[in-house]
Amino acid sequence: MRKVKNIVVVGVGAMGKGIAQVCLMAGYNVTLVDINDEIIENAVLYIENGLNKLETKGKLPEGLKATDLLVKMKKTTNLSGAVKNADFVIEAIIEKLDIKKITCKEVIDNSPDHCIFASNTSSIRMTDIAEGCGKPENVIGMHFFNPAPLMPLIEIIAGEKSSKEAMDVGVEVGESLPCLRGERYVPRVLTDRPGFIVNRVLAPGRIYSDYIYDLADEKSIPWEQIDADISNPEAPMSTLVLADFVGRDVSLHTAEYYAETLSPDFEPGKLVRKQVAEGKLGKKTGQGFYDWSKGRPKPDLSKKAGIVNPLVYTAIQANEGCRVLEEGICKSWKVIDKAIMAGMNFSGPMKSATKNYKQMAEILEEYSTKLGKPYLKPIKLLKSGKFIDMV
Ligand SMILES: NC(=O)c1ccc[n+]([C@@H]2O[C@H](COP(=O)([O-])OP(=O)(O)OC[C@H]3O[C@@H](n4cnc5c(N)ncnc54)[C@H](O)[C@@H]3O)[C@@H](O)[C@H]2O)c1
Repeated sequence: MRKVKNIVVVGVGAMGKGIAQVCLMAGYNVTLVDINDEIIENAVLYIENGLNKLETKGKLPEGLKATDLLVKMKKTTNLSGAVKNADFVIEAIIEKLDIKKITCKEVIDNSPDHCIFASNTSSIRMTDIAEGCGKPENVIGMHFFNPAPLMPLIEIIAGEKSSKEAMDVGVEVGESLPCLRGERYVPRVLTDRPGFIVNRVLAPGRIYSDYIYDLADEKSIPWEQIDADISNPEAPMSTLVLADFVGRDVSLHTAEYYAETLSPDFEPGKLVRKQVAEGKLGKKTGQGFYDWSKGRPKPDLSKKAGIVNPLVYTAIQANEGCRVLEEGICKSWKVIDKAIMAGMNFSGPMKSATKNYKQMAEILEEYSTKLGKPYLKPIKLLKSGKFIDMV
């Protein structure tokens, strides 16, 4: 396997700048590419500040200073020039298939034969990004979690034509990147399906959430009480603050994407459609579930509405985990739980399912009927408990 020395990060916005920082910390030569100088300068400032802070706290690799790492950083708006000597390119540009395809082809056309193109897409199939690039065997997914320096998970995704060597190099690069919170976890995603592992397992929970939001909106129940019902106490942010932070438009588009690719039962609920139509997108417009005009809201979660059954979420996730196993996306239920902890910082559903799968199956029968959503019915692999052998 060829040793990676030169990494190019294309798109240095929210994700790319954090990815570039950890690549520098791992000792690679890193070139930042974006569409204009101002965006690149913002990323440079972010990286300089980040590395200087780590130096002050004594958290840089033994014997290294921020300046030692920063001399290995280059920047340009010229992608084709930047990739001339690249071994590995990480793409973190806008989530649009046509633009990702053009970028992938430009990289493959202008880089050495061995150069690997790794996309940080959250949802698009690698096979689609690689189509027409001429070397689909060199294209893989490399899905970081936000923020990349802090969240240990990186999913390495195989497109239909990705070579084993490209996957191996992806895993090796992923494992070489330092993580400021815990050990890196770099599982292989073996089939190119929507949502990969973590986002896929969590995806159908939104069907139940939309049902609850629509009910709460109809009955005018305060959002804080719903948030108190719905939030995972282990999670770093309450669920509705996180939903506003991510953006209600993003949630709507994600639901539409899963409705198209997985099942029509993912069709977005009435409330999210209304929020988007009224421009109540969350943090970015100052209003979503909460008012953001005075900064991040701090909801009082002491009073619950009492209309959410948290076991439903765990059961839905465990059922989807079984679908992930059935579709060959990964081979072990332990990988699912480990990936959720590393990417989201809360416990996955599978260990609990090994003990409670029968009760989960009953809950799923009840709620799939109650919500009129056949997708939530328990699948055989869960009902039978056979997934327990998939370790
Ligand atoms: N934000 C997240 O939490 C998150 C998590 C995992 C994956 N992702 C994925 O990472 C990618 C980037 O997301 P983000 O949140 O960092 O977006 P962002 O908008 O903050 O950054 C994207 C950057 O790409 C640049 N860009 C756009 N077109 C370009 C082109 N043709 N060439 C070079 N640069 C270009 C933009 O100028 C911008 O700086 C997306 O595919 C997204 O789905 C995001």
